[in-house]
Amino acid sequence: MSATIEPFRAITISRLAHALKAEGRSVIHMEFGQPSTGAPPAAIAEAHRVLDVDGMGYWESPALKARIARLYDERYGVEVSPDRLLLTNGASPALVLALSSRFSPGDRIALARPGYVAYRNTLKALHMTPVEIACGPDEHYQLTAAALSALEPAPAGVIIASPANPTGSIIPPEELEAIVAVCRERGITIVSDEIYHGLSYADRTPSVLEFDADAFVINSFSKYWSMAGWRLGWLLVPAEHVETAKAYIGNLFLTPPSLSQHAGLVAMDQHMVLDGHIEVYRRNRSLMLDALPALGLKSIAPPDGAFYIWADVGHLTDDSVAFCEQLLRDTGVATAPGVDFDPVHGHRFMRFSFAVSTAEVEEALRRITPWFAARSF
Ligand SMILES: Cc1ncc(COP(=O)(O)O)c(C=O)c1O
Repeated sequence: MSATIEPFRAITISRLAHALKAEGRSVIHMEFGQPSTGAPPAAIAEAHRVLDVDGMGYWESPALKARIARLYDERYGVEVSPDRLLLTNGASPALVLALSSRFSPGDRIALARPGYVAYRNTLKALHMTPVEIACGPDEHYQLTAAALSALEPAPAGVIIASPANPTGSIIPPEELEAIVAVCRERGITIVSDEIYHGLSYADRTPSVLEFDADAFVINSFSKYWSMAGWRLGWLLVPAEHVETAKAYIGNLFLTPPSLSQHAGLVAMDQHMVLDGHIEVYRRNRSLMLDALPALGLKSIAPPDGAFYIWADVGHLTDDSVAFCEQLLRDTGVATAPGVDFDPVHGHRFMRFSFAVSTAEVEEALRRITPWFAARSF
């Protein structure tokens, strides 16, 4: 029997946002974690150039694999063989590949709650069992070594995400090392979603590979490289599982678009442009953090990285879907309801994405301030 999975509610909000826009309303899209900046100009120029000279067949770019391997050396001082890299259509198929090539139906996989909606639903679609661990302010909204060692029986695997969606919280290096130690001791395989690496506002985010050469690592061009619609990402597979994962990718997905691989290779050297985006996010983050408490949103997760603010709106609603819909209809500001990320408490939470321009953040705050003020008493 096929598994029943819940819809991604932010998509429903986004559809409404587009319908309102089609009616002539002004809409600010803060519902998806989607950079509004587009691919770096040099990557777009490369795409234009290769369209005339490349037949665009099935292809895995050896140069791109080599460049990604070099990224691990540059960012983390870790040596990675390009043979262990599979190029994918973004992080989403990389997650399917990691889970399906390592685990079996019925396996228990631990993950943080709140967490990215697709973890829970992909596990269910693959007939695996999500084991959600509640992570609140006391745990810095992240999985801990203590929580993993307390799980009985030990799960087959764990998905970690740092910086996380929807909170932006980062696992500190010493905790990550402790998590790896517990997983090694208990035979738990780590799948690390590192899609928000490169987007942090304080310290560098460590990769799980600095502590565990046997983890599955997911990454994508959708966030730091600002190329979500190009559908390009990768999975780094532990050596002993490479052949299995290759068999899965060959049958399930084949290769990502050749055009995107050409453009992605060029994007990887566009640090000036990409780091400029981070400065925009940094400004947006400050504006939001300054403004939200005055709106009565005082309980918010620490956005150490990524571009999200996870806010408790439990004093205003117990139906975050209706709340976000009303906010959108009244102000034109689209946000994501918390139920996507936390099936237990998410009816009391919402997520803002600040991956838009600073002018849009300013305008959004101008619009939502009276709306929240009218509801606070
Ligand atoms: C934590 C996380 N992982 C994976 C994805 C999927 O990304 P991609 O566009 O690379 O499939 C997202 C998208 O928002 C995400 O937030």
